[in-house]
Amino acid sequence: MTIGIIGLGYVGLTLAMAACSNHISVYGLELNEHIKDCIRQGRAHFYEPGLDSLIARFNDKTFHVVEKFPSDVTFDAFIITVGTPLGEDSKTPNFDYIRSAISSIGDVYDGEQMVILRSTVSVGTTRTVVIPFLAKMCGRSEEEVLAGMCPERTLEGKAVDELTHLPQIISGNNARSIQIAQSLFRMITPCVVEADSLEEAELIKLYCNTYRDMTFAIGNAFCMAAQEFGVDGISAIEHANYDYARSNIAIPGFVAGPCLEKDAYILINNMPDCASKDFILQARRFNESMEDVVVSWVKEHVGPASDDKVLALTGMAFKGRPQTSDLRGSSSVYIARKLHDLGYKMKLHDYVAHRDEMEALGLGEVCDSVAEVCSGALVLLVLNNHPAYASVMGSDIPHYSDNGFEVFDSWGVCTELYYDEDIRISTLGNAFIDNGGK
Ligand SMILES: NC(=O)c1ccc[n+]([C@@H]2O[C@H](COP(=O)([O-])OP(=O)(O)OC[C@H]3O[C@@H](n4cnc5c(N)ncnc54)[C@H](O)[C@@H]3O)[C@@H](O)[C@H]2O)c1
Repeated sequence: MTIGIIGLGYVGLTLAMAACSNHISVYGLELNEHIKDCIRQGRAHFYEPGLDSLIARFNDKTFHVVEKFPSDVTFDAFIITVGTPLGEDSKTPNFDYIRSAISSIGDVYDGEQMVILRSTVSVGTTRTVVIPFLAKMCGRSEEEVLAGMCPERTLEGKAVDELTHLPQIISGNNARSIQIAQSLFRMITPCVVEADSLEEAELIKLYCNTYRDMTFAIGNAFCMAAQEFGVDGISAIEHANYDYARSNIAIPGFVAGPCLEKDAYILINNMPDCASKDFILQARRFNESMEDVVVSWVKEHVGPASDDKVLALTGMAFKGRPQTSDLRGSSSVYIARKLHDLGYKMKLHDYVAHRDEMEALGLGEVCDSVAEVCSGALVLLVLNNHPAYASVMGSDIPHYSDNGFEVFDSWGVCTELYYDEDIRISTLGNAFIDNGGK
């Protein structure tokens, strides 16, 4: 089987390697020169365990990055994996990249190949955007073209592993499309789940991420409610969950990243006004409001910005477990931007994110270690849950008695620091409880 993938970002590149690992030939189109350069060097442009060795193994063998799809190759399917970003203010998704991705197959597409949408889209997009475009391109009817929606549901940091065994949702606009999608994904993963319609496949993807978003919103809401009673929210949740299977309340934290920050908005984008829509939107906005908790804490504990006040921020990638270098949709970056707009000076650190990408944010000096980022700073903001924070020792950072230095440990992950009585720590669970820190 031979497929073409349009867009070799996170989703396209991991899928390409999963396909090559299962004897599928892949031709990939990508516009970004940096991404293509990295692939030529046998590596991905982002951190993903296991991916680089696969790229090095298959590149120029069964994996070909091309400038246009070759006309002498017979393609069974094209898979569209381009981005579907939200407008910054409108929060509505932009599907223009999908239209340009379809145009890019124009030279080789004759209606015989299946076109699979894998990008995350609002319900109805495959039928109303993709299929009419394909029908027009090949001169066939909308019923005759072969189209499907087969969403991506892997977790960043585990994609190489998960692609081999997660159930794959497939759908098609007719029996032949469904059969091609089944054959293709059965080569990659043992379990294929056929959605009843293209729309159901689109909705399943959006439900999976919105469900997580809303689950985390409950943990965040409970945590903030606990503080209203002067109770530490994290402690209350941990004790409520302890050996009690009916409570699985999420530990508070930022709900971020390239998918979770936008999929609820993509879901409600064309949803008629209804109570469900309000409920989904409120959960999303509650999660976003957790960023303001940190900003308010800084204002309260550091006071107004001035040239001699420096903040140390660590954990800039959108999550620490599984670890990722991805800064897209990161609450840490949004928090840093808000603090920057308030005039605070900052130093930044992350265990995995690439230095050049952090420098490109233009938000502050990039440091190589927690100790370095704290040097000269008044507070340390720990913004993701990378496992390395568990071994940050009291000796690595300044103490309260030095100059009133304080720590905001958003996720409660700096476990060693809690043993040191001269380190004052606040968390999302006790940001505003007047207990002198822990
Ligand atoms: N990142 C994830 O974990 C994840 C998981 C599930 C679903 N998704 C969804 O999958 C889609 C892709 O996400 P991503 O994280 O891989 O995005 P991405 O931005 O990392 O990758 C998209 C790539 O497509 C390229 N591109 C855009 N237009 C192109 C064109 N016409 N021809 C060739 N290349 C083109 C871009 O240069 C970019 O590298 C989005 O809809 C996203 O919501 C992402």
